[in-house]
Amino acid sequence: MRSTVVNKIFITTGVFFLINIILLLSIKGFPSSAGRDELISPRGRLVHREPPVNVAAVSPLSKVDVLLPIVVFACNRPRALQMHIEALLKIRKDPQLNPIIVSLDCNDPATIEVAKKFGDKIKQIIQLPNLGPLHIVPSEQQLVGYYKIARHYNYSLNYVLNVLNYEAIIITEDDLEVSPDFLNYFQALYPLLKVDKTIWCISAWNDNGIDKKIERNASLLHRSDFFPGLGWLLTRTFFNEVKHRWPRAFWDDWVRKPEQRRDRVCIRPEVARTGISPEGKRGVSGGQFYDSYLRKIIKNTDPIDWKSTDVTYLIKDRYDPVFESRINACPVMTISDLAATIGDMKCAQIRYGNEKEFVAIADTLGIMNDFKDSVARTAYRGVVQCRFGRARVYVTPNKIASKGYGNLTAA
Ligand SMILES: *[C@@H]1O[C@H](CO)[C@@H](O)[C@H](O)[C@H]1NC(C)=O
Ligand SMILES: *[C@@H]1O[C@H](CO)[C@@H](O)[C@H](O)[C@H]1NC(C)=O
Ligand SMILES: *[C@@H]1O[C@H](CO)[C@@H](O)[C@H](O)[C@H]1NC(C)=O
Repeated sequence: MRSTVVNKIFITTGVFFLINIILLLSIKGFPSSAGRDELISPRGRLVHREPPVNVAAVSPLSKVDVLLPIVVFACNRPRALQMHIEALLKIRKDPQLNPIIVSLDCNDPATIEVAKKFGDKIKQIIQLPNLGPLHIVPSEQQLVGYYKIARHYNYSLNYVLNVLNYEAIIITEDDLEVSPDFLNYFQALYPLLKVDKTIWCISAWNDNGIDKKIERNASLLHRSDFFPGLGWLLTRTFFNEVKHRWPRAFWDDWVRKPEQRRDRVCIRPEVARTGISPEGKRGVSGGQFYDSYLRKIIKNTDPIDWKSTDVTYLIKDRYDPVFESRINACPVMTISDLAATIGDMKCAQIRYGNEKEFVAIADTLGIMNDFKDSVARTAYRGVVQCRFGRARVYVTPNKIASKGYGNLTAA
């Protein structure tokens, strides 16, 4: 009798004790490192507060918001710049967190005027100083635009990262359209780069992001060995590592080379967060490709709450085993079998042994068929994936490459 009463007292006190501990822990929040909910500038100043987010409990990623300026590259398209800045202002919630810096080449009065009219909504306008004549051999004179772009990027990236001293920046161009969650996407994904040193950039673009080739899953992201650009995040660390080799032209193809990339990847979305506006037709590379392809890239309109979305599946150690087993679970088919039987299949692999075979498969699937330094657009470890009917198709080397460069002749 007495002992049951004592037992009850013990049990009741024990339960209360447990409840108290749980309450205490939940009030403190997990993990409880100080200042998780504060935003720090690149130089360490606290500038802002954000409500704590509970994914911190399961994620190794820091929830500290880092100041990420948007650096807009422009030249002589006043209307494009006007529309682009207006679009950024529409989606920007926090001017302190995402100040806009406009970088202007060309010394074009109308474009300078557009930038100035935004007043203090633009934090700074960089005008490229006279960097002297470009020495271009006569046979490359028609490529002068690409030389100018490389010089412009070289100058302004260095200025923003090393003189203004930002730790990382979001890079856009005046002809880009942006999704409503464009800025949140970078803000939430930036901490991944600190945890996973095999990631060097985050991009908003999917080179194969056209209707029917993508799954309309706005939260789906991938690792990619191919640098997509077109709305992307660059860190000072990466820039300073490669800047001594900066090229005189075609900087984007240069950054895709193994010497710069060193087997690191970019994160890219399934559904792009940028589109190219009709103003992009008047670009250096001409309008033909715009009409035939670029304008068809689907730009996401279904905003994701990135801050409360777990993106840790993109960390290499977690991603690779899932990636491999997903692909290995799919039957191997030929491209002609595929069209006939895909109706009720979930996924398939189509194998290629060399670049020529890849091109034939890509053309049949209706996706981009080009390679830069042995890496196909959007490829990860040699695998390019897209939707075909209702199935996911993996265009896979005969043996999935362990590295990003593939070894096509051996495959
Ligand atoms: C969309 O992608 C995410 C990330 O891979 C996944 O967790 C989620 O289940 C997907 N949603 C649908 C509806 O397939
Ligand atoms: C890049 O900029 C640096 C200065 O930051 C300069 O010394 C170098 O010559 C530039 N390189 C090219 C290829 O423009
Ligand atoms: C590709 O494979 C061949 C044959 O296995 C090998 O000799 C060559 O070194 C490999 N190349 C690379 C870049 O891995």
